[in-house]
Amino acid sequence: MNVVIIGTGYVGLPTGLGFVELGHDVVCVDIDNNKVDCLNNGKITLYEEGLEDLLLKHLQSKKIFFSTSYGCIKNADVVIIAVGTPQQENSGKANLSYIYDVAKQISNHLDDKYKLIAIKSTVPVGTSDEVEKIISNQNVDIISLPEFLREGYALYDFFNPDRIIVGSNSDKANELIKKLYSSFCDEKLIFVNRRSSELIKYASNSFLAMKIHFINEMADLCEKTGADIKDVALGIGLDSRIGHKFLNPGPGFGGSCFPKDTLALQSIAESYNVELSLLNATINGNQKRFKDIANRILEFVKDIDYPTIAIYGLAFKNGTDDCRQSPSIGIIKHILNKRNLKIKAYDLKALDNAKEILGDSIEYFSDKYECVKDADLLVVLTEWGEFQELDFDKLEQNMKSKFIYDCRNIVKSIRSDFKVCKVGKNNEII
Ligand code: UGA
Repeated sequence: MNVVIIGTGYVGLPTGLGFVELGHDVVCVDIDNNKVDCLNNGKITLYEEGLEDLLLKHLQSKKIFFSTSYGCIKNADVVIIAVGTPQQENSGKANLSYIYDVAKQISNHLDDKYKLIAIKSTVPVGTSDEVEKIISNQNVDIISLPEFLREGYALYDFFNPDRIIVGSNSDKANELIKKLYSSFCDEKLIFVNRRSSELIKYASNSFLAMKIHFINEMADLCEKTGADIKDVALGIGLDSRIGHKFLNPGPGFGGSCFPKDTLALQSIAESYNVELSLLNATINGNQKRFKDIANRILEFVKDIDYPTIAIYGLAFKNGTDDCRQSPSIGIIKHILNKRNLKIKAYDLKALDNAKEILGDSIEYFSDKYECVKDADLLVVLTEWGEFQELDFDKLEQNMKSKFIYDCRNIVKSIRSDFKVCKVGKNNEII
């Protein structure tokens, strides 16, 4: 099939390359000239495991290309909208201006060939109806086709979906979707109405965010009571109704999705006068968590004049260069607001993106042992796998102290002379 994807970000690009790999012909449209040039020359403009190899493979097979023009819509069977829906500046609502601009562009380029238009961007309930009004064409079906890809695992998730939610009011559209996803077994496809589909996406992200907030609160309780969150998470996760996933405590959830989508769902509920009390507590609790963790970090160095803190991890999680709403960045900002001290930071992929946000308020290192030179404290804020096995001899040579605050509970503590403090464990009691 001929597929056009509008938007080449963290969703559009893996989705486009995924469909090519499934055998479809894909054109990806983006308004950013420079990005389109880079992609046509095999250069990826974001970090995502496996994406570059797939891009090079399919530029060669000539089954994908990138364009700034909507002209390619004429040949398309399916047009997938995958542009951003960022938070509005002064409210929690989703900014839908990019979606509506794309809808207008699509409508200007339609001819009399039938087209299926699928909204993959995360959008409030009722947006498909609005897009339908803008496009206003009998030869078109608009469906909601939310994405459930995680950054860092986007291709894995594309090829191994738990489910493919299709919000559609049209049998013709459903038949085309079955063809588009014919490589997957039929049971993966769940057909619902458009509004349910739009809500499933927000409800999924909000539920996962709530699960993280719950385990972070339990971690706080463990620290006070002498219980160990690792054992508590294991114990509750073994109940198959609860499950083990998303029970890792940490510095709070971040990224371009959970913070934005929880706020958007909150404002959707408010507009219908429905109170989502668990969601409200999750949003407030997560914002407070960044401050709490910052305060705990400051507590470690409270007796030192002009201390140096080394931070491992700036990305909002492992496997990505994305720093949007990163807990690490939020926590660093709180620390710098409260005290005059030196912060040195290391990340595998996110240094450039972090620099754009934090500028020269901190120092950046591409070598993790240089980063800890003269540090009074090392704090691990992103769950990169390489932080599991640290070289403690090198840490000892470079650091001023032997204190590590492991906010992701991943560091394997192999030296008893180092004090490695964990989240959800009362380090004093133990
Ligand atoms: C999330 C969802 O997991 C995807 O299903 C969804 O498609 C995507 O949003 C989206 O809406 O586009 P993503 O934002 O890439 O994916 O990241 P997650 O892996 O969900 O992690 C989000 C945050 O929660 C990160 O800061 C992560 O470190 C944190 N987290 C996650 C925890 O603190 N503990 C956990 O147990 C899991």
